[in-house]
This record gives sequence, C-alpha cells and structure tokens, in this order.
Amino acid sequence: MDYIKIFDTTLRDGEQSPGASMNVEEKIIIAKQLARLGVDIIEAGFAISSPGDFEAVKRISHEVDGPVICSLARAKPEDIDKAWEALKGAPKPRIHTFISTSDIHLKHQFKMTREEAKKRAVDMVKRARGYVDDVEFSPMDASRSEPVYLYEVIEAVIDAGASTINIPDTVGYSIPTEFGALIKGIKENVSNIKKAVISVHCHNDLGLAVANSLAAVMNGARQVECTINGIGERAGNASLEEIVMILRTRKDILNLDTRIVTEQIYPTSRLVSSITGIMVQPNKAIVGDNAFAHESGIHQDGLLKEKTTYEIIRPESIGISHSKLVMGKHSGRHAFKTRLKELGYELSDDDLNKAFERFKKVADQKKEVFDEDIEAIVADEILRIEIPERFKLDKLNVVSGTESVPNAFVEMYIDGKHVKEAGFGDGPVDAVYKTIAHITKTKSKLLKYSVNAITGGTDAQGEVTVRIQEDDHIVLGQGAHTDIIVASAKAYINALNKLEYKKKEKKVKVV
Ligand code: KIV
Ligand code: ZN
Repeated sequence: MDYIKIFDTTLRDGEQSPGASMNVEEKIIIAKQLARLGVDIIEAGFAISSPGDFEAVKRISHEVDGPVICSLARAKPEDIDKAWEALKGAPKPRIHTFISTSDIHLKHQFKMTREEAKKRAVDMVKRARGYVDDVEFSPMDASRSEPVYLYEVIEAVIDAGASTINIPDTVGYSIPTEFGALIKGIKENVSNIKKAVISVHCHNDLGLAVANSLAAVMNGARQVECTINGIGERAGNASLEEIVMILRTRKDILNLDTRIVTEQIYPTSRLVSSITGIMVQPNKAIVGDNAFAHESGIHQDGLLKEKTTYEIIRPESIGISHSKLVMGKHSGRHAFKTRLKELGYELSDDDLNKAFERFKKVADQKKEVFDEDIEAIVADEILRIEIPERFKLDKLNVVSGTESVPNAFVEMYIDGKHVKEAGFGDGPVDAVYKTIAHITKTKSKLLKYSVNAITGGTDAQGEVTVRIQEDDHIVLGQGAHTDIIVASAKAYINALNKLEYKKKEKKVKVV
C-alpha cells in the first residue's frame, strides 16, 4: 500500500476565491483543524503577499503541531527570504517556489526566455535550500508547457535540491488521459525523478480537477494539492474530501490511501464554509447536505433493509453523526462544547465561555438552536476579535410596513465618537444600509447580500452575509441575530470594519 501525501492549500489558493479572505485568527483556527484532519502539509499562505499573510504563516509555524508548514514564494530572492523569515519557527518548514514554464506565460506575462526562466528556477531553488531541506518547485502552467522543456527544467531543479516537483494544471485545461500521460512522461524522461516526489495541483475550470488528480496518482504522483470544499482561484481546486474518499472507498482497485482522519472531514468542511462564507452546494459530493439524503421511496426502502444498498460511504466515516444532540436552553456546557467540536471548533476556555453565554441568550429566545446558529454565534462572537472595530452599532430603530415609507434611525460609534442619523430606503434593510453608508461615508458598493442559515421556524437566528467592494478590496461581513434587520446591520458594519483593516494591508500583485 502506497500513501498519497495530502497538501492542503485552503489557506493559500483557497483564500484566492473571490471574497474568501480570512483574518489571521480565522486562519489559525482552520490550520489547527487541518492538523486534526491529518493533512501532511499545510500551505499557510504566501508570506510576501501581505503583512496579514506573513503573520499567518509565522503564527501557524509556531502554533500548529504535526504537519509540514509551507509558504508560497515566487522565484524571486525577496520572496524566498520572506518565506523563510515567516517559516523559521516551524519544526518542519517547506518553501514552495514557482515560475511559469509555458511559452504563453513566459512571453506575455514574465517576458523571459525559456533559458532565463530555467536559470531563475534553479537559482531560487538553491537559495531556498540555503534555508531549508524541504523545497518544492512548481513549473506554473505545466500542462500547457512544451514537454521536453518541462523535463529539462524539472531535471535542473531536482539537481539544485528540490525534493517535491509539483505539476500544476493552472488553468484547468487538461483532461484526465492527457494529464495522466504528462505525469507518465515526466517519470519516464526525467533522469533524476526518483529523487523527488511528484505532486499535482489541478484547477477545476472544466470540472475535472479531481479526475485529473486521480489520473496523475494512477500514473505515479504521490502528493495531491487540494482544498477543503474545493475552494480556490476561479472555479477552485481539487476538493480534498473527494480525493481522500475516492482513495479510501476504492482502495480495492487503487491500492492507495492517505493518512487523513476521515471522521474530521465534515467538521472541517463546515468550519471552512462558515469562516469563508462560501456555502457548499447541497449536491456536492461527500460534504453536501444531500450527499447522504435519500428521497425516493425505492431507495429509502432499500436503505432501511440494508444500508449498503444505496450508501457507498458510511456517513459516520466522514464525521456526520446520526445521533445528533438537540441543542436548546436545557443543554449544558459539555454538550455545547461537544457540538462545537463536531463543527470543527476547539475554543480556548475564555472563548468557550463567551460563546456559551451567547448560546444561552439565543436558546432563551428560540426553541431549538441549530448548527447554523452555533456557527453564527462563533462567527459573530469569536472570529472577529482581530479586526479593530472602527465602526460599532449602538442602537437601531426601523419602521416599515404596508402604510409607511421604510425608514431607519441608526446610532453608531465611529472611532469612539457617538453619531446618529435617520434615512429612508426601498425596504427596511435598504433604509438601514443607506443610513449606515451615509454615516460612515463609505465608498464601497454592495456586491451581495444573502440571508443564510435561517433554520427551523420564524424564531430562527438569521445569519446575514454581505460582500462589499472598494477599489480592488473585496470583503465579506457576517452578522447573526434573531432579528434579521439587526443581523443585516451587524453584517454590514462587520464588512466595513474588515474593509478598513484590509485597506491598511498592502498586497503585492500575485502572478
Ligand atoms: O495554480 C497554480 O499554478 C498555482 C501555483 C502557484 C502552484 O497555484
Ligand atoms: Zn493554483
């Protein structure tokens, strides 16, 4: 039995999903959960890209035990140096450096010849080896690169000291037979390939990221780069849970496995979607709400007689428990802590106390507290702690109905100064948003407003997610409350605070 290394890039490529940016505290929570999941490598960020990314790589290096911690770095001296500076506290650091090898990228974007790119790759791998033993190299856009040149670059970087060669299908262009043949070609034509692990990194533009990764593995790749829920640049990356469960479920013919603790898959998926605000589609394989839901009478009948008639995976094996505890006002701290753990959160005692206090308040207002309510409590009460609250809601009063023009009276604090204003709108939320926009003088525009996690009945806690944009900064705000208008105001103000924070971070352009 061969083991496939799982390289998780949720915190790097996953964060490149529009609107998915996470703050440092959120990244640490996810990284700790990835360690519990048992991933082999965590790509914690792209150290040079922003102070926030640098801080995340640094803190994850110090605070997360188990996996190799990796930082991405362009093939540039300053990137490699910065990656090392962020990684040096990690017991097992890895520098992942990359440069394109396709003519289309070299000509139009990098403005380099093939020889120049090869030399740069070799020089930067050597520079990275000056800091760490574990160096990964990616020839970006490998699937559209001329194979003989690709072989030459790979051979040269292995000679320079790279121990993992990652083959990206950067634009998700390949199809499985072709991508499998590319890996086979590399194995057969790169003379020193045995000194390195072949890895793959597939994007999902044609919906083939998982199929291409599988084809690669069947042709000798031994590391797969993937993300939780398949999030990532554009259409996303190969989904970790699908890769892992394909290998586990079809071990009979593939004779391959991973070291993933599969029972942690569902909690990790829930954690990532609640932190990023990117919901999982109901019919998504493995972790979608419908993945284990049976609707047809024939299927239900078969299932009741024998589960394996219609279930190829036991839900328990990915951490979906059937004996779900019903959470309400009589639930104690122990049950609350257990439920949080099942949802992917292991909070410090202080944070647990804060969340529990809020849970009790919510439970007093409604009959049953659903998982989404608990996630909303954590998102609202715990995860925003790192964002300075320049704007703060004090009081909110809204009048609307069939006979009146919706109007809002908002009282807020801005940098500690109390301000109040009234305004009208097309509906109560519109009135609140227009008034807040006027008070804060924000230049941002609202890209998306959604009410999620309205569960159960009309007494449910609503979670509002908004996405706003100013220049090239896009942020997500969340707010939860049993009153949907209050949740909307909180989500908007949360987004405005994140935007202020973001505007202070200087990002370099990621190629
Ligand atoms: O998609 C890609 O090519 C990448 C590289 C940086 C590995 O994300
Ligand atoms: Zn990528």
